[in-house]
Amino acid sequence: MTTGILGAIYMRRAMRAYTSAPVERAVIECLIDAAIQAPSYTDNEPWSFAVVHGRDVLRGLSDEVKAAALALPPEHAIPERLRRELADPAFSVFHDAAALVVICATSPRQQDAEDCCLAAENLMLAALAYGLASCPIGFSRPWLQLPKAKAELGIDPAHVPIFGIAIGHPAVQPPSPGRRTPRIVHYPA
Ligand SMILES: Cc1cc2nc3c(=O)[nH]c(=O)nc-3n(C[C@H](O)[C@H](O)[C@H](O)COP(=O)(O)O)c2cc1C
Repeated sequence: MTTGILGAIYMRRAMRAYTSAPVERAVIECLIDAAIQAPSYTDNEPWSFAVVHGRDVLRGLSDEVKAAALALPPEHAIPERLRRELADPAFSVFHDAAALVVICATSPRQQDAEDCCLAAENLMLAALAYGLASCPIGFSRPWLQLPKAKAELGIDPAHVPIFGIAIGHPAVQPPSPGRRTPRIVHYPA
């Protein structure tokens, strides 16, 4: 078993089963601090964070989030399998996690979104160090763009939510779905 940074990289899974144990505010703040250690283009640090805390609060939000995802215009079509999942009233889009950390880019520039994604991976790897697990929730994105959602979460109207990351205590350790062999298209001998 690999340990250290490599161990975390290989152990991280998109977690979809959490226990009911809460995650302390101080721990969430440590995860955000780890997130912002990520590199950023010209040292811009182009991110802001909004935290939704509490399993029940997230469960309450889930229906609104699912409705916004299902209302996406056809060009953003969600595959049929995922539409069925979203349409299931029993399905909580946040997988009953204890908290959601929304990472936002401070401008619509692509480089700012890229920096936020680097920070997001830091946050998810740091969660493992606290015995926690995580799952990026892309389904939350359509709802997060709504002015109402931004106002509710205190997100600056000019900032762009990239995605929410569900955080909680893992109930299982799912197996890796595996990876295809990388296409290394140029590597002279
Ligand atoms: C940008 C992004 C959005 C994602 N959105 C969701 C989501 O809404 N719900 C979910 O259960 N998993 C979501 N995932 C998790 C992926 O399905 C998962 O990372 C992938 O299946 C590989 O599994 P692994 O992370 O365990 O290696 C998302 C992943 C990324 C990178």
